[in-house]
Amino acid sequence: MPYGMLTLRLHTPLAHCGLIFGDMTLPSSLRSTLRRISHALVVACLPLFLGGWIYGPQSTFETEGPVAKTQLDVFYVTVWVSTIIFILVAGVLAYATFKFRVRPGHDKNEEPPEQSHGNPMIELGLIALSIGALVVIAIPTLRAIWYTYDVPEAEKANAYEVNATGYQWWFKFEYPSEQIDGTGALVAGNELVIPAGRPVRVNLRTVDVIHSFWVPKLAGKVDMMPNRGNHLWLKADKPGYFWGQCAEYCGESHAVMRFRVIALEESEFAAWISNQKQVARTVAGTQLGAPAPAKVEFASYTYQKQRRNAPGWTEEFDRDPFAAWKNQQQARPQESAELVAQGRKLFVEKKCAGCHTVRGHEGAGVSGPDLTRVGSRTTIAGGLLENSEQNLHRWITEPNEVKPGNKMWFGGYYTLGSNGTWEQQITVNDAEARALVAYLHSLK
Ligand code: CUA
Repeated sequence: MPYGMLTLRLHTPLAHCGLIFGDMTLPSSLRSTLRRISHALVVACLPLFLGGWIYGPQSTFETEGPVAKTQLDVFYVTVWVSTIIFILVAGVLAYATFKFRVRPGHDKNEEPPEQSHGNPMIELGLIALSIGALVVIAIPTLRAIWYTYDVPEAEKANAYEVNATGYQWWFKFEYPSEQIDGTGALVAGNELVIPAGRPVRVNLRTVDVIHSFWVPKLAGKVDMMPNRGNHLWLKADKPGYFWGQCAEYCGESHAVMRFRVIALEESEFAAWISNQKQVARTVAGTQLGAPAPAKVEFASYTYQKQRRNAPGWTEEFDRDPFAAWKNQQQARPQESAELVAQGRKLFVEKKCAGCHTVRGHEGAGVSGPDLTRVGSRTTIAGGLLENSEQNLHRWITEPNEVKPGNKMWFGGYYTLGSNGTWEQQITVNDAEARALVAYLHSLK
């Protein structure tokens, strides 16, 4: 909660006491005392509220890699130096305020004490101290800048390279060392899988405006600039699941432009890569043009329309997202070939295939995220929603309620007519959404 709001909350009731009783019973000194008490309460409560910010999935205080750790160390040096200066200055100020306060019986017309123009020793001493403080901060800062700029020379041979590209409002991840015959580099969207314990160099690009790449527990933030190649490097100490976030205002859905980083053991990473390089998984009998699979009784999920900005998480996912990610790699135990086949057909009919790639199937578009293995991701909509059936249904049927201004809505579902108004071209009803969800979730 912002400090201002907190002040207001605590202050208002106390101020009301003052207002209600002020003119009748409370002297102004008591009112000002009440005000002081409310401010003191605010300051005393601050750590409680800060606690919620300091720890959590996007905390920079719980680092899990050497780059973020170096950045945190520099922060602490600055905090300690500033704290010492604060204590010294505030101490002198408090001493002077107390010592030279107005005492009862003080003559207001008394001559002021002798005025001087400073003491050269004190002034030179303060200059030297200031320079000293800056040097104490500058040395670790410069060392950190050099260290975090690029993968250290000694570790370069072991480094893994990926390209990250910012789009309004999602991230594309490319693996230049994983080439697929006839296709080019392996591409994924919004979830960056890396080998744990190995330095990863991330080349940062954007196709539109300025974005910023930030994984609070691993490294950040470096901007993704138009027409400029930036980079950063990071390393996850051990396997894990990390939150990422665009950290530069980039339009109306900036706040919901997120991503995930999943760090895997070397062997698991190799297995993940080799599975990713395959063409899209096909449920038997669901190829376009194949005879329709037999109708099966299928217990579908329940779907309820959500309000705008409704959270897209379950508690279970929040508790252990890494376990959820591993689980998400497996095919769903209940899969209806009939629904999957319908969904695959709809994917073409609804023109999804024009913007999204499903390698080996019909999708060949590149303006939206690659969906070849979207069913194995834990998140959709640029890391915003947990990839559950209900959330994917919500995202497909009302994308603009989830991510205002997104290009699937403006440019996909709606196109700009000749008279300058947006005209709806694509609608997805409940039954169609269920089929599309079944198809997309079969892509593991
Ligand atoms: Cu992209 Cu903010």
